[in-house]
Amino acid sequence: MEHTNLIKATLVSEQQIKQRIAELGKQITADYKGRRPIVIGVLKGAWIYLADLLREVDLDVDVDFMSVSSYGSGTSTSGTITIVKDLSVDVTGRDVLIVEDIVDSGLTLARLKDLMRDRNAKSVEISTLLSKPSRRKVEVDVKYIGFEIPDEFVIGYGLDFDEKYRTLRDICVLAEEAYK
Ligand code: PRP
Repeated sequence: MEHTNLIKATLVSEQQIKQRIAELGKQITADYKGRRPIVIGVLKGAWIYLADLLREVDLDVDVDFMSVSSYGSGTSTSGTITIVKDLSVDVTGRDVLIVEDIVDSGLTLARLKDLMRDRNAKSVEISTLLSKPSRRKVEVDVKYIGFEIPDEFVIGYGLDFDEKYRTLRDICVLAEEAYK
């Protein structure tokens, strides 16, 4: 790949991701046994994780996608989200599992969770591949976490820098010279 010289290190390898997703898939399968959740992928970052996760989940599921823009105001916790692309299914009375690539401040997921509750979902849980607990501005309960990571600029496996690197197989740390 063209810009590989800007990759500082591998943080989570393809093999580690695969293994952890298999574990999460088993857990989700057991937790939702006998139910048919709506799995919501949050674009764009989550699409690779969602595709791999759901192939480790042995359940009938409905899949849909949302795209949102988050606007936080500095250190404030009053961030709002704008829906860029909404769901095409009704979540009323349904079990909803939101799938994200990363939880950072928590603002996006906190607002999405509220939105699903406002729409009368029966239950709302979250799975994220990555979480940066040190960056949290709001508490958000995330039931299925792949990896907790330090506050590094990470790319790959769905995560981008300037729309690049999403298709890297590993999760890598971007070299500082790329963005400074
Ligand atoms: C990332 C990620 C979450 C959000 C998390 O999306 O996919 O949606 O940021 O951040 P928060 O916890 O601080 O709210 P991003 O804006 O990078 O868009 P993308 O998924 O399209 O790359």
